[in-house]
This record gives sequence, structure tokens and C-alpha cells, in this order.
Amino acid sequence: MHLLEVKNLHVEVDGNKILNGLELSVGKGSVHAIMGPNGSGKSTLAHVLAGKQDYVVTQGEVLLDGDDILALDPHERAAKGLFLAFQYPLEIPGVATMTFLRTAMNAQRKQRGEPEISTPDFLKRVRQVAGKLGIDQDMLRRGVNVGFSGGEKKRNEILQMAVLEPRLCVLDETDSGLDIDALKVVAEGVNHLRAPERSFVVITHYQRLLNYIVPDVVHVLSKGRIVRTGGKELALELEASGYAQYQDAAA
Ligand SMILES: Nc1ncnc2c1ncn2[C@@H]1O[C@H](COP(=O)(O)OP(=O)(O)O)[C@@H](O)[C@H]1O
Ligand SMILES: [Mg+2]
Repeated sequence: MHLLEVKNLHVEVDGNKILNGLELSVGKGSVHAIMGPNGSGKSTLAHVLAGKQDYVVTQGEVLLDGDDILALDPHERAAKGLFLAFQYPLEIPGVATMTFLRTAMNAQRKQRGEPEISTPDFLKRVRQVAGKLGIDQDMLRRGVNVGFSGGEKKRNEILQMAVLEPRLCVLDETDSGLDIDALKVVAEGVNHLRAPERSFVVITHYQRLLNYIVPDVVHVLSKGRIVRTGGKELALELEASGYAQYQDAAA
């Protein structure tokens, strides 16, 4: 069974049709890239998967492990192992990163009927992952993302991902605004998390990120539908040819 299956997904925002019969199947342990021109619906897909309000699903299904998640609240989806890293991570003044991580982790454990993590276990896990990502203790004590640079915010997202150990990670243009060094750190963080039971949907406009996070499958999204699917070489082809042919493909 696929970890994620999106079937005939139709989505409207403010009465405008944004996704038009999108089909996507993601197997366990694989990395799928979704590429497409601006406005093709990439972020809309990410938001619908997360369960963000204002996105009206008019048709279709989204199955995680065979269960339809469209009726679930965002926190219930997270407890089922879904994680989203957004293009513009939110700042949460007054909530230390450490506290945020621990609260998120325990909320998910509670939802799954598991006990809270012990303080030593939690600290050990965070320090281990933070060390790998080059996040220092001072950053962990500061408010979530407050005063963080673009690169630090993205690293913090990967830290959250690593601590929460989700089964499906969706990264929406996590490369936007990153210089090459920050991009490598983020990619390394993701690559560390690749595992047989964990899958990734990496949304990106540019091929560059995919030099560092090498996908198993590449999809092209155009006008709210997947119009082409291929291997990692498809990303290189898109880089060379541009999106012009896909801007009209679904018209
Ligand atoms: N909250 C919204 N309200 C109105 N239109 C929206 C909203 N979000 C997205 N759209 C429209 O949906 C289309 C797809 O947007 P988006 O999913 O952000 O594309 P992408 O991430 O591929 O650039 C665009 O035409 C955009 O203007
Ligand atoms: Mg977008």
C-alpha cells in the first residue's frame, strides 16, 4: 500500500478552482519532487495536505496509510505522522524553541495514546539533532524563529522534523531564500532522515535543491494537475527547457 495517495483532488479557494483532478501516489521510503511554474498550485497542495482552512475540497480523496485524512484536524494529521515545512516559517515570540518542540512532541504522543517523553530523553534527542544541524543552545532558548535568519529558520524546521520523526514530510519551497551553504545544511538534514519507513514530498520551483536531495520520482504540476512524471533526470530537463511548455499544457 502507498503511504500517501491523492485521488482526483479538486480544490477551490475563494471560489477559484486551483487543483483540478490531481493524482499522486507516494510509496514508503521514497522521495518525490513536485516541480511546476509559479501559480500552478504547489503550495495549495501542501496546505490542503496539512488541513489549512480556506481550501475547499470539492472532490477527491487524500489517503494516508489507506485512511482518508480530509476530515481530520491538522493536529490529528500530525499525530498520524504528517509534517509540513512551509515556505515562510512562522515566528512565535515568547515561546522558546525547546518548549515548542516538547509541547508539539507530547501533544502528538498524547493523541496516539503514548506517555510523555522524559526530560533526559527529550534533551538528549534535541541536542543530538541540533548538533548535526549546527543549531546552538542559544537558538534553542530563543523564541521560535524570532530574529532567526532565513537559513536558521529552515534549519529549525528540519530540527522540528527530526525531533518529531514524521512518516510523511512535505517541504514547500524550503530552498527559497537560501544561499548555497544553508541549502546544503538543509539538504543534509533531510538526507539524514531518509529511511525505509519515511517518505518525502519536496516541492520546488528550481532544480538546484534536487542536486542535494536526489529524488526517486519527479512530477510536473501545471494548472492544478500532475501532467508528467519521471525520474530524477526530468528535473534536469526542466532546468534546461524551462516551464513554458507546461504553462499551456493543461489549458
Ligand atoms: N488564499 C488564496 N486566495 C486566493 N487565491 C489563492 C490563494 N492561494 C492561492 N491562490 C491562487 O491559487 C493559484 C495557485 O497558487 P499556489 O498554490 O500558491 O501556487 P504555487 O505554489 O505553485 O506558486 C494562484 O493562482 C494563486 O493566486
Ligand atoms: Mg508556492
